[in-house]
Amino acid sequence: MRARLNVVVGITGGIAAYKAVSVVRAFVLAGHDVHVVATENALRFVGRPTLEAISRNLVHSDLYDGVSEVRHVAIGQAADLIVVAPATANSIAKLAGGFADDLLGNTILASLAPVVIAPAMHAEMWQNPATVANIATLRGRGIVIVGPSVGQLTGADSGPGRMSEPEQIVAAAFASLTPQDLAGLRILITAGGTREPLDPVRFIGNRSSGRQGVALAQAAGARGAEVTLIAANLEVDPPASITVTHVRTSLELASAVGREAPSADVVIMAAAVADYRPDTVAQSKIKKETQGDVLDLRLIRNPDILAELSKHKSDGQVIIGFAAETEPDETKLLELGRVKIARKGADYLVVNRVGWSEGFSTFDNSVSIINASGTLVAKATGTKVSVANRILDLLSER
Ligand code: CTP
Repeated sequence: MRARLNVVVGITGGIAAYKAVSVVRAFVLAGHDVHVVATENALRFVGRPTLEAISRNLVHSDLYDGVSEVRHVAIGQAADLIVVAPATANSIAKLAGGFADDLLGNTILASLAPVVIAPAMHAEMWQNPATVANIATLRGRGIVIVGPSVGQLTGADSGPGRMSEPEQIVAAAFASLTPQDLAGLRILITAGGTREPLDPVRFIGNRSSGRQGVALAQAAGARGAEVTLIAANLEVDPPASITVTHVRTSLELASAVGREAPSADVVIMAAAVADYRPDTVAQSKIKKETQGDVLDLRLIRNPDILAELSKHKSDGQVIIGFAAETEPDETKLLELGRVKIARKGADYLVVNRVGWSEGFSTFDNSVSIINASGTLVAKATGTKVSVANRILDLLSER
């Protein structure tokens, strides 16, 4: 969970201002303190009471209100993040020129916070060389531009110029606060638990929900990595922005990893892979009448994907495994990890205590990370996203 941020939402005078209400609401629902700074023209499109009710704060628009508290700079100085949605062609030109003739212009000039803008205008205006040059200027200053998307505009026309959807704007705004330290890295992550079929209706599985692997994918994506997720029977939805391949069994997982791993800089094996699978899979439901009181299952070993990856890894590729262990004693737990990493040959092993009420399906996790020589390099306890970030720190530390 992110700390409570002071978010300034700047709204300028375009028809897409009605969608800015959803942007404000999304920040409020995410637990942040939202201050709307609207231009006078924006308030022709969307009412002040609406914005005040949704933001739960007064809406500021006049440069000459609150002069005694030096409001024209105070709002910008206090902001952790400024999002301008919609940003009209005119407001983009003013921003590029550094104009301070209204409260929003002053707020942005007086702020050191990241600025994210969501342009919205007709296609001709977006493609006009003046706007193109202004956008390039803003990008050069580190301002994040979200969209615009291509689609139906206000009139009968369509093309580039439609404001991005509120959820995309909010996601880009949060990403702007996250260091892009993994940009350029291709990371392959496996998540979930494999299921080995016995017959058309039954399987042997495990209790992995996939939450830790999905948290890794989400955190790596937010830090700029190009993420591919191989998902085995997840209980949670992966982020829409991530490329996902769905698999069910260990053999399917092994072949998906075999396909994807050669082009990955980093492979993280967070999936709980079944070590054994039924020797034969019945083509129709196994019946009690034919089995009697005892049912013998013959299981055969699955390939060890992590060990194979480590054996064939390319130069510079980093392989991270997980170790799920039920050992309660911390020292013995780490010793099991050391034996496991020596056997599997990974670069790091995330040692994870699991049990009836630990590790699986929970929102929090507690791990110790050892390197190839068995040295403890990090410990992390907290939400699965914060644990994921600690694991990913190892990559940026390298
Ligand atoms: N793993 C794998 N292929 C397997 C079994 C496990 O790639 N057939 C990977 C897991 O994804 C994990 C690591 O190996 O990253 C360790 O998995 P774990 O279940 O803790 O260990 P095992 O090697 O299966 O050993 P054991 O079950 O005997 O503890």
